[in-house]
Amino acid sequence: MSLKRLVNALLAPLHAEVVRKEDTKEKPWDHTFKEGVKAARKSGEDPNEAVRAAWGDPDWLRYYEPLVKEGDVVCEVGPGAGRWTQPILDRVSKIYLVDYSAYVCQLWREKKDPRIEVVPCANARMPTIPDASVDFFMSLDVFVHLELEDFYGYMQEAWRVLKPGGKAVIDYMSIQNDYTVQYFKDELESSGIYSGTETERLVFRFHDTATLQRLAEDLGFQFESEIDTWPTHAFCTLTKP
Ligand SMILES: C[S@@+](CC[C@H](N)C(=O)[O-])C[C@H]1O[C@@H](n2cnc3c(N)ncnc32)[C@H](O)[C@@H]1O
Repeated sequence: MSLKRLVNALLAPLHAEVVRKEDTKEKPWDHTFKEGVKAARKSGEDPNEAVRAAWGDPDWLRYYEPLVKEGDVVCEVGPGAGRWTQPILDRVSKIYLVDYSAYVCQLWREKKDPRIEVVPCANARMPTIPDASVDFFMSLDVFVHLELEDFYGYMQEAWRVLKPGGKAVIDYMSIQNDYTVQYFKDELESSGIYSGTETERLVFRFHDTATLQRLAEDLGFQFESEIDTWPTHAFCTLTKP
């Protein structure tokens, strides 16, 4: 165990952790949300509705909303402005909102909602959330941006924080049919990935279902996955037996 891990394990009961200096740097979504919320507020619009209008309103409630029961403790990674948080907020007894964007964290802290505990997290580790304390884990439109290492890191944390019988719902980008192969090639070309700078790099990360299933099952999860009607997105449900 590294020194940082040991210190963080000791600090966890105090709800504190040591964070590397570079973890506090501005993250890509800081800017997006800062500007988006500023523009929405200026025009009198609800920031969450502005996100919905900009990014679409796919029928993804059906994947997770029926799984959230009255009084549940929920953990959501990457809530942004709350596109998927708001529909279940009134039902939960507690919700951990985990995000690496300082701006997004601040947005939720400002609500001063006693049900919400904000968890800043830059390293796929959330030691302030106790083991086996969460009924439901969710993350939508976030893992589509994560490298496999972070994807797996959050799966490990989902396994740790979920109660036995708990479930996690996560969407990801998968290449599993002709449409997605073409989409992948078009996105790479249009993002200028072969000629542009690192900041112009495509923000999406593509994964293979068989790899994710292997890793999830290795942790002990039962794994189910289906392709969404947006055929680049797949949704997986992980169950901790
Ligand atoms: C594309 S936005 C989606 C927001 C929201 N889930 C939605 O669909 O409207 C991605 C969100 O995930 C957060 N995020 C991205 N990568 C992350 C990471 N590695 N760890 C924690 N949060 C992350 C961003 O700050 C942002 O809030």
